[in-house]
Amino acid sequence: MNRTIAAPKGVPEYLPPASAAFIAVREALSRPARHSGYGYIETPIFEETALFARGVGESTDVVSKEMYSFTDRGGRSLTLRPEFTAGIVRAVIEHGLDRGQLPVKLWTQGPCFRYERPQAGRYRQLQQVNVEAIGGDDPALDAEVVWLAVAGYRGLGLTGWRLDLTSLGDRSCRPAYRELLQQFLRKLDLDEETRRRVEINPLRVLDDKRPEVAGQLVDAPLMPDHLCAGCERHFDAVREHLTDLGVSWSDAPRLVRGLDYYTRTTFEFVHAGLGAQSGIGGGGRYDGLMADLGGQPLSGIGFGLGVDRALLALEAEERVVVSGGRVSVYVVPLGEEARRRALVVATELRRAGVAADLAFGGKGLKGAMKAADRSGAVCAVILGERDIAEGVAQCKDLQSGTQRAVPLVDLVRTLKETLES
Ligand code: HAM
Repeated sequence: MNRTIAAPKGVPEYLPPASAAFIAVREALSRPARHSGYGYIETPIFEETALFARGVGESTDVVSKEMYSFTDRGGRSLTLRPEFTAGIVRAVIEHGLDRGQLPVKLWTQGPCFRYERPQAGRYRQLQQVNVEAIGGDDPALDAEVVWLAVAGYRGLGLTGWRLDLTSLGDRSCRPAYRELLQQFLRKLDLDEETRRRVEINPLRVLDDKRPEVAGQLVDAPLMPDHLCAGCERHFDAVREHLTDLGVSWSDAPRLVRGLDYYTRTTFEFVHAGLGAQSGIGGGGRYDGLMADLGGQPLSGIGFGLGVDRALLALEAEERVVVSGGRVSVYVVPLGEEARRRALVVATELRRAGVAADLAFGGKGLKGAMKAADRSGAVCAVILGERDIAEGVAQCKDLQSGTQRAVPLVDLVRTLKETLES
């Protein structure tokens, strides 16, 4: 016998009926952007490897350890996207979207790929809803973008999260801060690898949760205390706008993101019910990325929300996002003639906008009624040979169990009325 083949390790799948919740979550997380002037963009799942190396940063774990890279038959090095931002910025530059009205406001959704060690909430294929606004320095834009994410979570009814917010400075104040932080870190008692990190990416060290390291970081200099006047003003204005919008946040001066492009406003959504993988979404400004990728020196801000993690957060809060069945009506034919008729009846219902399914393969009454119950339908339409001869169908309310004969010519209209009442 052939061996069975399983899905690759660390890849979640969403199967019916649970997949309905996956779609509902994606819808809810993207709704605020769709209602705020953001246009949909679909970029390729794979890109030239150099895009991520340059865009996301060689020193990040995402690029140095987690990329799914391969050489295609033409000898090109390609990589499955580990995130959306670099690809979207590339597309904006390539297609000149930044030559029109600014900011360019875009949203997208889909899978990203990271070769991480799989565990609960950490997958190798992860799903995001992603938003970018490119070509705008206005702090009101930062607040709009943060609000879009907040509104997405609120739309799902999620409550157990908090917004961590900070500013990472810009090219005029971060280098001096980085130097200061390195001077502080070089004096500490750190292992070899962490010492190396101090030289390459000192901000990441601030995020070290190991007690022997974290204990030494209590007095570390923090970026928000070393912002230049421009960054300080920008950050103050963002916070004022967020207050106007009724968004509360926690100051997170040690917040470090896993991608290198961030500047100024940076944020993360953290859910208390998820254990180690508590980041349900995150984002920030990336004011140097357009130029780094060969475009005009325009600023940008955006976020990625983890759809898989939002689903886990809903589960942790015991919230149901979808109720109701897959269909409203289930058609049950009894006999040869009825089977032909059943497909026509179901199709007429579907054409009229009523979600309908039917029993295939000559199921008996018992089996077909079981299938009707499982479908979540409100009503079963039972077609018997004698009923058809008399020009009627039996409509059974699957909750109350009551049944009545309805003339076939009136069936679609009657069912629509019943379902809408
Ligand atoms: P990120 O923080 O790397 O940001 O990912 C965004 C979200 O994707 C995370 O908060 C998390 O919910 C989810 N996520 C990331 N990795 C995994 C994983 N292995 N398994 C499950 N979920 C995961 C970005 O990707 C940036 N591109 C966001 C952005 C857009 N910044 C500016 N614009």
